[in-house]
Amino acid sequence: MISSALRRQLCSDRSPRLATLAALSLTAMLAACGGDSPGPAAPVAKTCVEDPAQARCAPVTPPVDSGLRYYATKSGRYMGTSLDALFGGTAYNALVAKEFNMFTPGNVLKWDAVHPARTTYNFTKPDAMLAFAQANGMKMRGHTLAWVNQNPGWLTSGTWTADTLTQILKDHIATVVGHYRGTIYAWDVVNEAFNDGAAALRANVWSNVIGRPYIETAFRAARAADPATLLFYNDYNIETAGAKQDSVYNMIVDFKARGVPIDGVGLQAHFLVNADGTGAPSKAQLQATFQRFAALGIRIHVTELDVRVQTANTSSAAFAAQNQAYADIATACFSVTACEALIVWGVTDSESWIPGTFPGWGSALLFDGAMTKKTTYTAVKTGIGG
Ligand code: XIL
Repeated sequence: MISSALRRQLCSDRSPRLATLAALSLTAMLAACGGDSPGPAAPVAKTCVEDPAQARCAPVTPPVDSGLRYYATKSGRYMGTSLDALFGGTAYNALVAKEFNMFTPGNVLKWDAVHPARTTYNFTKPDAMLAFAQANGMKMRGHTLAWVNQNPGWLTSGTWTADTLTQILKDHIATVVGHYRGTIYAWDVVNEAFNDGAAALRANVWSNVIGRPYIETAFRAARAADPATLLFYNDYNIETAGAKQDSVYNMIVDFKARGVPIDGVGLQAHFLVNADGTGAPSKAQLQATFQRFAALGIRIHVTELDVRVQTANTSSAAFAAQNQAYADIATACFSVTACEALIVWGVTDSESWIPGTFPGWGSALLFDGAMTKKTTYTAVKTGIGG
């Protein structure tokens, strides 16, 4: 038997434990790491696979069936989805627990949902999701603490001084992150702070009044509210080289130099393919991006992956390119140790945000509206080693 203190050290996601592990017998390792994310009902023996860069203790013995979760777990990674309106349905929940070992609430932790009036917080839905995560050995991510969209009217229509708004931001983060202290694996602390192209700050309720310091304030407040959760900056159009990627990269370099807490970068990865099959980044481009951020000593999560096609006019070239795009990002992520999570933005095409936000586009996910696996599913499965 090993002590509970040693078990905590061995199986936490963060503690360096290579030397300790090396000194343990296989039996002790099995016992020590039995609590890490198994399949939904998987009374299986597990052992630890060491990951020097991440210092993780990940299970390698298969759960009962071999969904995407199994292959991610085998690599010591996370395969995730966002959860929204379909969450709660019996068949849907079973599918989620079989295929994924991580999820992000798609909307219910955004400001308008969780903080609808200045002194009112509503945790009912995210609490139910957290209970689901805990019952099924999954990690839950938090999304998001400062963003341009889905803010409540009381916040966006108020007239604030920089000091008052900074205090509102700090109070929100202390309350929301504090509510989930010790339970949420990682937070998208700040979302989409930079404009496309030019290296300028995106105008939003925060930057308009507080200016750039709102970003740093949010990260410091999140760390104060939960010392253990991982703090991510999350954005889109930073998956390939360019001015926007440089803005994020330079911000992280600056944060690390000045001791502002940050643990990772989230690459949303909302990709598209055109009718002729062009449009998505190549595997080489993605790998270069993952390696660039990994060299900063941070973690990488692909946070909101979808690959949309034009629904009215979809050619076989487009579907082939869509499969290739999914395979490429899955392979590229799993080829870089620091890329520890691949999260699709929704389970089925019927719940995807794409048709509503990009009219004429759709079919962007891994399952169709009947929860049947698509060829994109097979592409991801192969890409992550299945
Ligand atoms: C989307 C949700 O999926 C939709 O349900 C909602 O109506 C709008 O927001 N970038 C993000 C996500 O960071 O929060 C967005 O989610 C998609 C784009």
